[in-house]
Amino acid sequence: CTGQDQATDLQGKTILITAGPTREPLDPVRYISNHSSGKMGYAMAAAAADAGANVVLVSGPVSVRPPAGVDVMRVETAQQMLDAVMQHVKAADIFIATAAVADYKAKVLENNKIKKKGDELTLTFVKNPDILKEVAALPDAPFAVGFAAESQNLAHYAKSKLEKKKLAMVAANDITTSGLGFNSDYNALHVFWENGDKQLGPAPKTQLARELLSLIDERYKNKSS
Ligand code: CTP
Ligand code: CA
Repeated sequence: CTGQDQATDLQGKTILITAGPTREPLDPVRYISNHSSGKMGYAMAAAAADAGANVVLVSGPVSVRPPAGVDVMRVETAQQMLDAVMQHVKAADIFIATAAVADYKAKVLENNKIKKKGDELTLTFVKNPDILKEVAALPDAPFAVGFAAESQNLAHYAKSKLEKKKLAMVAANDITTSGLGFNSDYNALHVFWENGDKQLGPAPKTQLARELLSLIDERYKNKSS
Protein backbone atom coordinates (compact mmCIF):
# COMPACT_ATOMS: atom_id res chain seq x y z
CA CYS A 1 0.00 0.00 0.00
CA THR A 2 1.17 3.53 -0.75
CA GLY A 3 0.12 6.62 1.17
CA GLN A 4 -1.58 7.85 -1.99
CA ASP A 5 -4.03 4.90 -1.97
CA GLN A 6 -5.06 5.66 1.59
CA ALA A 7 -5.80 9.29 0.73
CA THR A 8 -8.67 8.47 -1.65
CA ASP A 9 -11.69 9.84 0.17
CA LEU A 10 -14.99 9.77 -1.67
CA GLN A 11 -17.23 10.04 1.39
CA GLY A 12 -20.61 11.49 0.41
CA LYS A 13 -19.95 11.04 -3.33
CA THR A 14 -22.03 8.78 -5.56
CA ILE A 15 -20.20 6.74 -8.18
CA LEU A 16 -22.05 4.98 -10.97
CA ILE A 17 -20.17 2.15 -12.68
CA THR A 18 -21.01 -0.11 -15.64
CA ALA A 19 -19.31 -3.50 -15.82
CA GLY A 20 -19.19 -6.78 -17.69
CA PRO A 21 -20.38 -7.62 -21.18
CA THR A 22 -23.83 -7.04 -22.60
CA ARG A 23 -25.76 -9.89 -24.17
CA GLU A 24 -27.78 -9.22 -27.32
CA PRO A 25 -30.39 -11.86 -28.15
CA LEU A 26 -30.80 -13.26 -31.70
CA ASP A 27 -33.70 -15.63 -31.00
CA PRO A 28 -35.15 -17.31 -27.88
CA VAL A 29 -32.03 -19.48 -27.37
CA ARG A 30 -29.08 -17.52 -28.79
CA TYR A 31 -27.21 -14.26 -28.22
CA ILE A 32 -24.01 -12.43 -29.16
CA SER A 33 -21.69 -11.17 -26.48
CA ASN A 34 -17.96 -10.89 -25.69
CA HIS A 35 -15.33 -12.22 -23.29
CA SER A 36 -15.49 -9.42 -20.70
CA SER A 37 -15.22 -10.94 -17.20
CA GLY A 38 -16.37 -7.84 -15.31
CA LYS A 39 -13.33 -8.12 -13.00
CA MET A 40 -12.02 -4.58 -13.64
CA GLY A 41 -15.45 -2.99 -13.10
CA TYR A 42 -16.11 -4.99 -9.94
CA ALA A 43 -12.64 -4.07 -8.65
CA MET A 44 -13.41 -0.38 -9.34
CA ALA A 45 -16.71 -0.74 -7.45
CA ALA A 46 -14.95 -2.36 -4.46
CA ALA A 47 -12.26 0.35 -4.42
CA ALA A 48 -14.90 3.10 -4.58
CA ALA A 49 -16.90 1.54 -1.72
CA ASP A 50 -13.69 1.25 0.33
CA ALA A 51 -13.07 4.95 -0.30
CA GLY A 52 -16.44 5.72 1.28
CA ALA A 53 -18.48 6.41 -1.86
CA ASN A 54 -22.08 5.33 -2.47
CA VAL A 55 -21.63 2.90 -5.34
CA VAL A 56 -24.21 1.86 -7.93
CA LEU A 57 -22.95 -0.94 -10.16
CA VAL A 58 -24.89 -1.68 -13.35
CA SER A 59 -23.67 -5.08 -14.44
CA GLY A 60 -24.05 -7.32 -17.45
CA PRO A 61 -23.96 -11.11 -16.94
CA VAL A 62 -20.75 -12.06 -15.08
CA SER A 63 -19.69 -14.74 -12.61
CA VAL A 64 -17.70 -12.52 -10.23
CA ARG A 65 -19.28 -11.86 -6.85
CA PRO A 66 -20.52 -8.33 -6.13
CA PRO A 67 -18.45 -6.43 -3.55
CA ALA A 68 -20.00 -5.76 -0.14
CA GLY A 69 -21.83 -2.48 0.31
CA VAL A 70 -22.41 -1.93 -3.40
CA ASP A 71 -25.86 -1.50 -4.93
CA VAL A 72 -25.93 -3.90 -7.92
CA MET A 73 -28.39 -3.71 -10.82
CA ARG A 74 -28.25 -6.66 -13.18
CA VAL A 75 -28.99 -6.18 -16.87
CA GLU A 76 -28.47 -8.10 -20.10
CA THR A 77 -28.73 -5.87 -23.17
CA ALA A 78 -27.11 -2.52 -23.95
CA GLN A 79 -30.55 -0.89 -23.99
CA GLN A 80 -31.29 -2.25 -20.49
CA MET A 81 -27.87 -1.03 -19.32
CA LEU A 82 -28.62 2.44 -20.73
CA ASP A 83 -32.04 2.52 -19.01
CA ALA A 84 -30.55 1.50 -15.64
CA VAL A 85 -27.75 4.07 -16.00
CA MET A 86 -30.20 6.86 -16.88
CA GLN A 87 -32.26 5.97 -13.78
CA HIS A 88 -29.26 6.61 -11.53
CA VAL A 89 -27.15 9.19 -13.36
CA LYS A 90 -28.77 12.28 -11.83
CA ALA A 91 -27.45 11.35 -8.40
CA ALA A 92 -23.97 10.47 -9.69
CA ASP A 93 -20.91 12.67 -9.19
CA ILE A 94 -18.65 10.33 -11.14
CA PHE A 95 -19.53 7.85 -13.92
CA ILE A 96 -17.06 5.07 -14.76
CA ALA A 97 -17.84 2.99 -17.87
CA THR A 98 -15.90 -0.27 -17.68
CA ALA A 99 -18.56 -2.34 -19.48
CA ALA A 100 -17.79 -4.03 -22.78
CA VAL A 101 -21.06 -2.96 -24.38
CA ALA A 102 -21.95 -4.77 -27.61
CA ASP A 103 -21.65 -2.13 -30.33
CA TYR A 104 -24.43 -3.77 -32.36
CA LYS A 105 -27.58 -5.81 -31.76
CA ALA A 106 -29.60 -7.96 -34.16
CA LYS A 107 -31.90 -5.84 -36.32
CA VAL A 108 -34.65 -8.43 -35.89
CA LEU A 109 -35.14 -10.45 -32.72
CA GLU A 110 -36.66 -13.69 -34.05
CA ASN A 111 -39.64 -14.98 -32.07
CA ASN A 112 -38.81 -18.55 -33.00
CA LYS A 113 -35.52 -20.41 -32.97
CA ILE A 114 -33.58 -19.76 -36.18
CA LYS A 115 -33.56 -23.03 -38.15
CA LYS A 116 -30.47 -24.50 -39.80
CA LYS A 117 -30.86 -24.10 -43.56
CA GLY A 118 -28.20 -23.26 -46.19
CA ASP A 119 -24.39 -23.37 -45.89
CA GLU A 120 -24.22 -19.70 -44.95
CA LEU A 121 -26.19 -17.53 -42.56
CA THR A 122 -26.39 -13.75 -42.85
CA LEU A 123 -27.78 -11.63 -40.02
CA THR A 124 -28.18 -7.86 -39.99
CA PHE A 125 -27.05 -5.85 -36.97
CA VAL A 126 -27.90 -2.28 -35.99
CA LYS A 127 -25.97 0.06 -33.73
CA ASN A 128 -26.61 0.05 -29.98
CA PRO A 129 -26.77 3.30 -27.99
CA ASP A 130 -23.38 4.55 -26.77
CA ILE A 131 -24.07 4.72 -23.02
CA LEU A 132 -20.90 6.61 -22.11
CA LYS A 133 -21.36 9.17 -24.90
CA GLU A 134 -24.99 9.80 -23.88
CA VAL A 135 -24.02 10.27 -20.22
CA ALA A 136 -21.15 12.65 -21.05
CA ALA A 137 -23.49 14.69 -23.28
CA LEU A 138 -26.06 15.28 -20.52
CA PRO A 139 -26.49 18.94 -19.50
CA ASP A 140 -25.46 18.22 -15.90
CA ALA A 141 -23.08 15.36 -16.74
CA PRO A 142 -21.09 13.64 -14.00
CA PHE A 143 -17.28 13.45 -14.25
CA ALA A 144 -17.18 10.82 -17.02
CA VAL A 145 -14.45 8.21 -17.23
CA GLY A 146 -14.23 5.74 -20.12
CA PHE A 147 -12.17 2.67 -20.86
CA ALA A 148 -10.69 1.84 -24.23
CA ALA A 149 -9.62 -1.66 -25.14
CA GLU A 150 -7.35 -1.38 -28.16
CA SER A 151 -5.35 -3.82 -30.27
CA GLN A 152 -3.38 -1.11 -32.15
CA ASN A 153 -2.53 2.66 -32.03
CA LEU A 154 -3.53 2.76 -28.35
CA ALA A 155 -2.68 6.39 -27.57
CA HIS A 156 -4.22 7.69 -30.78
CA TYR A 157 -7.56 5.83 -30.37
CA ALA A 158 -7.73 6.55 -26.64
CA LYS A 159 -7.24 10.30 -27.15
CA SER A 160 -9.79 10.38 -29.95
CA LYS A 161 -12.35 8.67 -27.64
CA LEU A 162 -11.57 11.30 -24.96
CA GLU A 163 -12.37 14.08 -27.45
CA LYS A 164 -15.26 12.53 -29.38
CA LYS A 165 -17.17 11.39 -26.31
CA LYS A 166 -16.23 14.57 -24.35
CA LEU A 167 -14.81 12.55 -21.45
CA ALA A 168 -12.91 13.78 -18.42
CA MET A 169 -10.58 10.77 -18.56
CA VAL A 170 -9.99 7.60 -20.55
CA ALA A 171 -8.14 4.48 -19.35
CA ALA A 172 -6.73 2.49 -22.24
CA ASN A 173 -5.46 -1.05 -22.22
CA ASP A 174 -3.60 -2.97 -24.89
CA ILE A 175 -5.55 -6.20 -25.41
CA THR A 176 -2.68 -7.80 -27.35
CA THR A 177 -0.41 -7.97 -24.26
CA SER A 178 -0.62 -11.64 -23.28
CA GLY A 179 -1.86 -12.47 -19.80
CA LEU A 180 -3.35 -8.99 -19.29
CA GLY A 181 -6.83 -7.58 -19.79
CA PHE A 182 -9.94 -9.61 -20.70
CA ASN A 183 -10.49 -12.46 -18.22
CA SER A 184 -7.08 -12.00 -16.58
CA ASP A 185 -6.58 -10.92 -12.96
CA TYR A 186 -3.86 -8.51 -14.14
CA ASN A 187 -4.01 -5.43 -16.30
CA ALA A 188 -1.99 -2.39 -17.35
CA LEU A 189 -3.56 0.96 -18.20
CA HIS A 190 -2.47 4.13 -19.95
CA VAL A 191 -4.71 6.90 -18.64
CA PHE A 192 -5.28 10.12 -20.60
CA TRP A 193 -7.01 13.41 -19.71
CA GLU A 194 -7.05 16.84 -21.32
CA ASN A 195 -3.56 17.95 -20.34
CA GLY A 196 -1.82 14.83 -19.20
CA ASP A 197 -1.40 11.10 -19.05
CA LYS A 198 -0.13 8.40 -16.67
CA GLN A 199 0.76 4.74 -16.99
CA LEU A 200 -0.50 2.36 -14.29
CA GLY A 201 0.60 -1.27 -13.77
CA PRO A 202 0.99 -4.00 -14.86
CA ALA A 203 -0.59 -4.96 -11.56
CA PRO A 204 -3.41 -7.09 -10.15
CA LYS A 205 -6.77 -5.56 -11.12
CA THR A 206 -7.63 -4.93 -7.45
CA GLN A 207 -4.48 -2.82 -6.96
CA LEU A 208 -4.85 -1.14 -10.35
CA ALA A 209 -8.44 -0.20 -9.48
CA ARG A 210 -7.24 1.56 -6.30
CA GLU A 211 -4.55 3.43 -8.24
CA LEU A 212 -6.97 4.43 -11.00
CA LEU A 213 -9.58 5.54 -8.47
CA SER A 214 -6.96 7.66 -6.70
CA LEU A 215 -6.08 9.30 -10.04
CA ILE A 216 -9.78 9.85 -10.83
CA ASP A 217 -10.28 11.40 -7.36
CA GLU A 218 -7.30 13.72 -7.94
CA ARG A 219 -8.50 14.88 -11.39
CA TYR A 220 -12.13 15.15 -10.19
CA LYS A 221 -11.17 17.35 -7.23
CA ASN A 222 -8.87 19.39 -9.49
CA LYS A 223 -11.74 19.99 -11.94
CA SER A 224 -14.43 20.80 -9.38
CA SER A 225 -12.27 23.17 -7.30
N1 CTP B 1 -19.27 2.27 -24.32
C1 CTP B 1 -20.57 2.47 -23.92
N2 CTP B 1 -21.60 2.11 -24.78
C2 CTP B 1 -21.34 1.56 -25.98
C3 CTP B 1 -20.01 1.35 -26.38
C4 CTP B 1 -18.99 1.70 -25.52
O1 CTP B 1 -20.81 2.97 -22.82
N3 CTP B 1 -22.35 1.23 -26.77
C5 CTP B 1 -18.17 2.70 -23.42
C6 CTP B 1 -17.35 1.56 -22.85
O2 CTP B 1 -17.87 1.14 -21.61
C7 CTP B 1 -15.98 2.22 -22.70
C8 CTP B 1 -15.93 3.25 -23.81
O3 CTP B 1 -17.29 3.48 -24.18
O4 CTP B 1 -15.86 2.93 -21.50
C9 CTP B 1 -15.15 2.84 -25.02
O5 CTP B 1 -15.59 1.60 -25.51
P1 CTP B 1 -14.88 0.99 -26.78
O6 CTP B 1 -15.58 -0.27 -27.18
O7 CTP B 1 -13.40 0.95 -26.53
O8 CTP B 1 -15.10 2.15 -27.86
P2 CTP B 1 -16.18 2.37 -28.98
O9 CTP B 1 -16.56 3.80 -28.91
O10 CTP B 1 -17.29 1.37 -28.90
O11 CTP B 1 -15.34 2.17 -30.32
P3 CTP B 1 -14.65 0.82 -30.93
O12 CTP B 1 -15.31 -0.38 -30.29
O13 CTP B 1 -14.89 0.92 -32.38
O14 CTP B 1 -13.18 0.92 -30.58
CA1 CA C 1 -16.96 -0.89 -28.81
